[in-house]
Amino acid sequence: MPKRNSNQHIVWHKSVVKKEDRQALHGHKSLMIWFTGLSGSGKSTIANALQLELFKKGISVYLLDGDNLRHGINNDLTFTENDRKENIRRTAEIGKLFVEAGIVVLAALISPYKEDREIARSKFNQGEFIEVFVECPIEECQKRDPKGLYKKAMNGEIKGFTGIDHPYEVPKNPEIILKTNESSIEECTNSMIRYLYENINLLQTREE
Ligand code: ADX
Repeated sequence: MPKRNSNQHIVWHKSVVKKEDRQALHGHKSLMIWFTGLSGSGKSTIANALQLELFKKGISVYLLDGDNLRHGINNDLTFTENDRKENIRRTAEIGKLFVEAGIVVLAALISPYKEDREIARSKFNQGEFIEVFVECPIEECQKRDPKGLYKKAMNGEIKGFTGIDHPYEVPKNPEIILKTNESSIEECTNSMIRYLYENINLLQTREE
């Protein structure tokens, strides 16, 4: 069955090069690793550290960082509930293209709503979407305040800041939880690497 756009006159054109062919070329599986958590929890830091470790191991990897995407493709979006939904939708769609291209893609976005994260997950095949909850108490995030944004949110200079006057829905069943107030960045990165190599068998196509 060809996939259909809501416009019935747009029909999916099948690629002659398959995802599996591209994965074999890269020598590893491709998947989406989705980091969610409060601002200042350490999502971008861990995702960047993981990206470097994977890159050094010869894995084709790319990081989609929420803050950075908001400088380009998502620069028309605000922080309303609807715009955050669209932010997550676009990032998941872009991530899906990367997975189709045979690449390990990391996404680091607050993604505060459970429903939006579930919609993101639903775009991927079983086992191709790994949700990582970067857990850190809000008090600690406020103490770190790397961009000075919590201070501004507390002063009322920023409205609708996640964790202050906008909700963050804690993931119920993430594949992985990283507690950044208890473990170092290095420990969190190592446990991600262990998970990818031992549980997910990232290099499977290379061994076949
Ligand atoms: S999301 O909620 O739509 O997933 P995203 O991850 O793209 O958010 O962007 C979050 C980053 O935007 C934060 O790390 C912070 O630097 C900045 N930011 C600016 N305003 C807000 C706000 N109202 N709430 C949360 N983060 C904000």
